[in-house]
Amino acid sequence: MAHGQEEKRMRTALTERFDLTVPVVGAPMAGAAGGELAAAISAGGGLGMIGAAGSATPAWIAEQARVAAAGGRSWGIGLLAWALKDNPAQLDAVAELAPPLVSLSFGPYERHVERLKQAGGAVATQVGTLAEARDAEQAGVDLIVARGGEGGGHGRNDVATLPLLQAVLDHVSLPVLAAGGIATGRGVAAVLAAGAAGAWVGTAFLACPEATVTPAARDRIVAAAETDTNYGRVFDVGMRQAWPPEYGGRALRNPFFEHWQGREPELAGDDQAHAELLAAVERHDFDTAFIYAGQGVGLVRQPRPAAEVVAELARADDLLRRASSPV
Ligand SMILES: Cc1cc2nc3c(=O)[nH]c(=O)nc-3n(C[C@H](O)[C@H](O)[C@H](O)COP(=O)(O)O)c2cc1C
Repeated sequence: MAHGQEEKRMRTALTERFDLTVPVVGAPMAGAAGGELAAAISAGGGLGMIGAAGSATPAWIAEQARVAAAGGRSWGIGLLAWALKDNPAQLDAVAELAPPLVSLSFGPYERHVERLKQAGGAVATQVGTLAEARDAEQAGVDLIVARGGEGGGHGRNDVATLPLLQAVLDHVSLPVLAAGGIATGRGVAAVLAAGAAGAWVGTAFLACPEATVTPAARDRIVAAAETDTNYGRVFDVGMRQAWPPEYGGRALRNPFFEHWQGREPELAGDDQAHAELLAAVERHDFDTAFIYAGQGVGLVRQPRPAAEVVAELARADDLLRRASSPV
């Protein structure tokens, strides 16, 4: 290392591949993580990702990518695999942009892996069971994200982060990132000590000023406790979104969710409830509309710039040093 150059402190397969100083990926979060949040996380030393909704246009993707890439650091884009059937132009746009990291999650992604790798970037997918991890390795991805059910947004709720991570680390030979419930340096330290190459963090960045959440949503995120989330399909059914049923969502619990939980078949045919939910989304009424967030939301106490959140996550380094040298 050249004289005067600051020594890179935490080195993992993730930091080496993408030239990061902190082994953290800012998770793709549709509706919350655009180019600005991705750029801020990358500038802080992690790798920030843009979350593209199923309906995102190639023009939106290109504009967010421009913002994310402007700082010259590694960045990425996450696509929802189930939505590519109806919106294949997303894949063309991403292949053309060739981001350093692309995530394809929640649906049939296998056939797209080779094309994206050819385009030059690394490909990741989020898995929620050991069987999905084994399939991902077969599909040729570069990185596996072991995502536990305590995570925010969509995914499986079958296994929690730690048991999933342990199993995946034991059975696959690719670099593994841990996701779900990691919101402080302590969480990053725990998964690095277990053998993960890094943490894939969503909820901890939700209240950042660079995230595209409304002020009313930000207030609820900061006020929420770790017990305030719920998992299910109510919002997807209410919105009439074609999410595969095995991938429900974890969101802040609210009266709309509680009213319809367990009555999803009835909700599917209720035009009035559908209209009510759409209207609530429009006017940011979060007693009805959804705010996706994981159990780590209880650790989000104030809106902080993304670089500060990355610095907090980087405390893992000190914690790991302390853990290995007991007093
Ligand atoms: C608001 C929100 C939106 C999300 N949107 C996406 C998405 O568009 N694509 C995706 O692959 N994952 C999405 N996720 C899941 C994240 O990639 C990740 O799995 C999750 O945030 C990790 O758990 P954590 O929230 O406890 O950190 C979303 C998560 C949240 C909280």
